[in-house]
Amino acid sequence: MESKELVIVVDFGGQYNQLIARRVRENHVYCEVYPYDKALAKIKELQPIGIIFTGGPNSVYEEKAPRIEKEIFELGIPVLGLCYGMQIMAHTLGGSVKSADHREFGKTPTIVDTNSVLFKGLSKEEIVWMSHVDYVASVPEGFTVIAHTDNCPVAAMQNVDRKLYAMQYHPEVLHTEHGKEMLHNFLYGVCGCTGSWTMANYAKTAIASIRKTVGTGKVVLALSGGVDSSVAAALISKAIGSQLTCIFVDHGLMRKNEGDEVEAAFKDSGMNFIRVDAADRFLGKLAGVSEPEKKRKIIGEEFIRVFEEEGRKIGSVDFLAQGTIYPDVIESGAGDAAVIKSHHNVGGLPAVVDFKGLIEPLRNLFKDEVRELGAELGLANYLVWRQPFPGPGLAIRVMGEITKEKLDILRDADAIFRQEIANAGLDRSINQYFAVLTSTQTVGVMGDFRTYDYTLALRGVTTTDFMTADWARIPYDVLDTISSRIVNEVDHINRIVYDITSKPPATIEWE
Ligand code: XMP
Repeated sequence: MESKELVIVVDFGGQYNQLIARRVRENHVYCEVYPYDKALAKIKELQPIGIIFTGGPNSVYEEKAPRIEKEIFELGIPVLGLCYGMQIMAHTLGGSVKSADHREFGKTPTIVDTNSVLFKGLSKEEIVWMSHVDYVASVPEGFTVIAHTDNCPVAAMQNVDRKLYAMQYHPEVLHTEHGKEMLHNFLYGVCGCTGSWTMANYAKTAIASIRKTVGTGKVVLALSGGVDSSVAAALISKAIGSQLTCIFVDHGLMRKNEGDEVEAAFKDSGMNFIRVDAADRFLGKLAGVSEPEKKRKIIGEEFIRVFEEEGRKIGSVDFLAQGTIYPDVIESGAGDAAVIKSHHNVGGLPAVVDFKGLIEPLRNLFKDEVRELGAELGLANYLVWRQPFPGPGLAIRVMGEITKEKLDILRDADAIFRQEIANAGLDRSINQYFAVLTSTQTVGVMGDFRTYDYTLALRGVTTTDFMTADWARIPYDVLDTISSRIVNEVDHINRIVYDITSKPPATIEWE
């Protein structure tokens, strides 16, 4: 279903591998990432119009360093090597790589040859992001040096006849000021890409492909209301309408109005939409439980049970659909392990419903592409831009034992927090923010009365991968508005604190 203009990113285990792929896609060129040891086979099979080698942590002279077959350079397909990718290109083709005494690291002024197609339209001196110890000391035969820094004799090299190019620095990180242009020059000026990768095109081909796969069959999808499952639902329902049934298990642990919002978005969209109101069931199972992992387990199990019951009512199902996205799929070149998303989505349900096949129409998309596709499909903004929300929902944001009363207090406070963050225009720059109802009660004074009520914690983080995060610097006056509104408008909260720990050592959620 993909565009014919495929670029293959060959993964040597560097930290920016996914970023390179995203940058290529931002240039409207489709690409896929494969580990270095599977690259040659994939290149032969898929016939890309360009190849990019990523960086990696190794040194080409280490015994176990990733290698690449010389044959790749003989296929006539343009190759761009980045960092380790440049060193392995030089090493494989007969150049020499040496180790410097000091690491060259950070933003570095670099003299570039503007006659090279890579630097077309740029200045003679460019700022690039360097991070290396090894360097190419002499280029292979047929290559010329097209950039250097004070410390690095070969910051970029090319062999125009063989369409081989390489950069020692990282054009994919934003610190390389014109990195985007350099990649653009490679993709368009060397590989001859035309930029056919757009979400509008993707939607068209994906819809056609889903129709072809499904035929007259029935598809079931577990809809959580999160971005991925919502966009998958919208896409599949565009393709096959009422052959799709979405089961939305409302566990009563969603944020304020969220269940109704999901229902409103999908009820009249042409699919069969089933909302299962299972709040009492979940609360019943959770009664008296305060240990976080136990809560998670109960919710996961109950979720599957509800889904199973609903699935049985539908009868025979041909396909199960899931909102798996590309970062979950990409294998790391450094080993065999897939990049694991450490958190357990409610999507993993294959075992509980009998089905013939799996449909994962977002499997090749990055998160930002999923959002763009959602917008393209006409999905409401509040769904497209929804921040991550844990499968167990507010159960892990009410500390300790969960009651309906506590959930309602938290929902009201959290709604005010979110509203004020949006009013302050911070809703896209803070990547995740929410309120936590602690189990701590403290003394307060309200009018002439003493109170003994809950402490609410506010959490806001900035992060790109959710594996590490910094606490968001919300301006004091915004915090002040949030604090006064919550204590005035929500009963049983008399104290509010803001969480100023990063991850690590803390996690994003409190439980
Ligand atoms: P932590 O708290 O581990 O969270 O720093 C990282 C990201 O994962 C989300 N999260 C979960 N998502 N099921 C999920 O689907 C879970 O049990 C779960 N726990 C945490 C969290 O909201 C954050 O975005």
